[in-house]
Amino acid sequence: MVGRERLEEVFDEPVTLPPAVDGTGLPAGPLGVSVRSASFSYEDNLVLDGISFEVEPNESVALVGATGSGKSTLAHLLVRLADPDAGSIRLGGVELRRLDPARLRREAAIVFQETFLFASTVRENIGLDMALPESEIRRAARLSQAEGFIEELPRGYDTVLGERGVTLSGGQRQRLALARALVRRPRLLILDDATSAVDPTVESVILKGLREELETTLIVIAYRVSTISLADRVLFLDRGRIAAEGSHYDLLSHPAYEAMVRAYELGAA
Ligand SMILES: Nc1ncnc2c1ncn2[C@@H]1O[C@H](COP(=O)(O)OP(=O)(O)O)[C@@H](O)[C@H]1O
Ligand SMILES: [Mg+2]
Repeated sequence: MVGRERLEEVFDEPVTLPPAVDGTGLPAGPLGVSVRSASFSYEDNLVLDGISFEVEPNESVALVGATGSGKSTLAHLLVRLADPDAGSIRLGGVELRRLDPARLRREAAIVFQETFLFASTVRENIGLDMALPESEIRRAARLSQAEGFIEELPRGYDTVLGERGVTLSGGQRQRLALARALVRRPRLLILDDATSAVDPTVESVILKGLREELETTLIVIAYRVSTISLADRVLFLDRGRIAAEGSHYDLLSHPAYEAMVRAYELGAA
């Protein structure tokens, strides 16, 4: 009985608080992000402490901060994998909670460090359930620098992956996961350490390509100076607060930031 009561409490919990509207309020093109006084806790652990910042449409921003500073949690809030306990988050000027969740999934994509690949073909792993023209699949693979290794697989885009098929390296898996996000032409793209297993030179090529060929706002959580310095602007997170923001070069005068990126550089060497 106790178990059932608990389950019912969970089932009764509304998933979307205010009535969802569809995305007709969204502007065309890349979508800006506006975060105002957003706070978030896991139990009694305050992870984001009244964060406010803006990301302009088409801007690329690097989120930098020590492990545990709240970068991934913030990324989750931006695509509504969780809601802030207080404050507001807007995408293209529309409060996230008022956007239809299906619409939000189409407009905003997040790529994680760990990827899940299905035991099916490369093509299906990129396109999933979408019936996409071959040219779109190939464009996404090209932009994520996956085209080369895919074409070398025994059956190219028809190669079956996973338990009964070909096993990919970590960097190859990450590039497929990126292609899966790119093929949907998101208007906000968040990369949470999504290219960490990719060779740094290839990572730079990917990011430059994204900036040149993709109409999207880009938020990158990264640990390599070569990646961070490609962003238009850096947000430096420290224990759930924005400690500093500006260009990578501006922030080098911030001692904590400078110490952190120097450590990254040594780690990469
Ligand atoms: N699912 C979770 N449950 C409880 N605590 C979590 C969870 N995810 C992260 N945390 C905690 O929240 C804080 C911020 O974590 P996270 O957002 O993952 O930081 P970062 O990505 O900057 O390393 C850390 O103290 C972490 O232990
Ligand atoms: Mg993280």
